[in-house]
Parts: sequence; structure tokens; C-alpha cells
Amino acid sequence: MGSSNRSTSLTAAAAAETLRWWIEAGVDLALDESPHDRFAESAAPAPRRAPPPVPPPAAPTMSYETRAAPAAAVAPDDAARSARERAAAAATLDDLRAELERFDGCGLKATATQLVFADGAPGARIMFVGEAPGGDEDRIGRPFVGRAGQLLDRMLAAIALDRAQVYIANVVPWRPPGNRTPTPQETAVCLPFIRRQIALSAPRLLVCLGGSATQTLLGVKEGITRARGVWREYQADDGATIPALAMFHPAYLLRTPAAKRQAWADLRKLRQALDALDRA
Ligand code: URA
Repeated sequence: MGSSNRSTSLTAAAAAETLRWWIEAGVDLALDESPHDRFAESAAPAPRRAPPPVPPPAAPTMSYETRAAPAAAVAPDDAARSARERAAAAATLDDLRAELERFDGCGLKATATQLVFADGAPGARIMFVGEAPGGDEDRIGRPFVGRAGQLLDRMLAAIALDRAQVYIANVVPWRPPGNRTPTPQETAVCLPFIRRQIALSAPRLLVCLGGSATQTLLGVKEGITRARGVWREYQADDGATIPALAMFHPAYLLRTPAAKRQAWADLRKLRQALDALDRA
């Protein structure tokens, strides 16, 4: 490195410290090649409005373009209609995954690394549904593989289950940047897909992990602290119902160990329901 660079470049230790600081502040994703100084941009005089650019002719679809295109540019009504049509068209879980891979109506797809579709055994008697993938899930491509997922594995083990005996997915299958909560629009546009995923896997029991999945799938208004621990009914699109239990999200249990007592009571309810299925 030349001496002219030395004065402006960061040492490795300072760069690592800066990165750590960003990550702690929730900045864990680069959205552009180079940084923008938004303060300088907003202080600069507004440029004269240029006429809107004429869109180039449609190019053949390539996977790079699908990912780089600003997916949120799809009008919300069109995205919702397309989601309903694509989800309904899927005859199998593999079809559904392929439909999601092609779907550009959720802006989260543009910032996520990959689709996080499911883990475990399709068709299992129990299906767990969480909110949305986090950073580890985004990197690996499977739901609940980070710290919360490891706790979920221990919770399953406590009632003699493992991932091979359950099916696991999320309401939203792409990671929201910085692990923020998905917006109501993002959730609404993904809803037909998770509803179809539930229908195609056809579990006998459904477990909603956390308030977001509970409110979205079970239509309850109350928070998870009140909603958890009670068997409710999930209403499928074909009119069928599936017994559904809301539980604390494992990420919440990591932050709030005192709530594990209630989580244990809910796990026992789940075990009892499974045992009842075995006896039937
Ligand atoms: N939290 C979720 O809701 N889902 C995951 O897959 C991981 C963390």
C-alpha cells in the first residue's frame, strides 16, 4: 500500500472494530457498492427534474436480474393477486417452492440472500411456523438454524421429538434486513404462500411460534402472552380446521428465561395432543 493511502486507510483492527459497531447497531447488510452521504445529498440544491427515463425493452429473465430487480416496484395489488394465483397453482410443496423462487412481489427477496422455505419432514403430524428467517437462516437457507433454532431443537427433544418428526416454516420466507419485523404489507403478500404450505403439508397439529405468526395465522388480536397455551383452530382455505397452539417464540425465551416455565407447560400440552393422536 502506498504512503498516500496510509493516512486515510483503516488498520485491520480499526476496520474490524467499525464493523462490529455497525453490526451491534443493526447494520448487517450492504445495499449498495459504495456508501451514500445522505446528509450531503439532502443539503445540496435539488436537481432540476429530468423527464422520467424511458424503460428499456424487457430483457430475457436471468436469475441475476430477478434478484437485482427492485421487487417492491410491483404494485401491491398486483403482488397480492399474483401471490394468491401462484400459491393456488402449486399442487405440491416442490411446486410451491418453485413458485416462491419465481415470485418478485415481496421486496424482501431483493435484500435476502436466498429463499428460506422449510425444514424437517413435509407431511409431518406437527408443523411449526415462525415469523421470518434471521441472519443464520438467510445464510444457510433453512429455518430455525441459529440460536433460537437450537433452543427449538432442545424444546422438541424435551417432548421426545426431533426435526425429522416435524415440519418447520415461517410466515415470511425471506429475511427482513437487520432482522426487523416484517411489515404488514410484506406479511400480507406472503400469506397465501404459507397458507398453501400448511394445506399441502397437511399437519394434524399447528404450532405458531411468537405473536407475529399467531396473529397472522390464527387471527387473534391479543399479544402472545395472553394468546399462548390455548388450543385454537386454524381455518384452512377449504374450510377444514387444524388444532393450533400459540407458544412463545424461542428467540423471546432466550431473552426471557423466566418465560420457559410457561413454554414447558405448552410443550406438555403439545405432547398430550400428540399422544391422543397416537391413541386414536
Ligand atoms: N426466527 C424465526 O421466526 N424464524 C426463523 O427461521 C429463525 C428465527
